[in-house]
Amino acid sequence: MIGEDTLDAVMAVMDAGFDPHWREAWTREQVRDSLEMPSTFLLLADRTAKPIRSGAAVGFVLSRQALDEEELLLIAVTPEERGQGIGGRILGDYLLAARARGVRRVFLEMRANNPVRSLYTRHGFVPIGTRPRYYRTSDGQALDAITFARHL
Ligand SMILES: CC(C)(COP(=O)(O)OP(=O)(O)OC[C@H]1O[C@@H](n2cnc3c(N)ncnc32)[C@H](O)[C@@H]1OP(=O)(O)O)[C@@H](O)C(=O)NCCC(=O)NCCS
Repeated sequence: MIGEDTLDAVMAVMDAGFDPHWREAWTREQVRDSLEMPSTFLLLADRTAKPIRSGAAVGFVLSRQALDEEELLLIAVTPEERGQGIGGRILGDYLLAARARGVRRVFLEMRANNPVRSLYTRHGFVPIGTRPRYYRTSDGQALDAITFARHL
């Protein structure tokens, strides 16, 4: 079972890291429920991008495995720690961990205007499709989702 201290650390990054305008952040209950499932994985990192279980986290990756495929559900780094390579390092560590548990292909979905795109393409993700008007912002604007995939 997921510890409350781990959930505290995830939610501190979640609340700081996602602009509510895009409505991408998950609630504490959503994170807890998803981590109750053995197929969901959390990588939580400190400011040196080292994995930690709780405490002063600045970034995380949340993913869900289905056989030899996995979906990267969320990645975030707190705003004051961005641009130093932490996001890239936790994404790289995540991909290594996924491969080690037998994953052959990782998917993710991104709102079409997210600047995270360059990070994903630098790590070998390629766009494979678009879901029109998949996201809705807090002021009701509809945004396409782009699906990316990466073979491991
Ligand atoms: C995406 C994110 C995790 C990157 O973390 P980071 O520690 O800044 O990543 P790095 O320092 O390794 O790399 C920065 C790169 O990400 C890009 N980037 C992605 N999102 C960015 C953002 N919101 N602001 C600035 N740069 C961003 C930059 O262009 C930069 O690319 P470059 O090196 O080619 O110039 C972080 O920006 C974030 O938490 N964003 C908000 C949450 C989000 O949108 N997550 C993705 C959807 S789940």
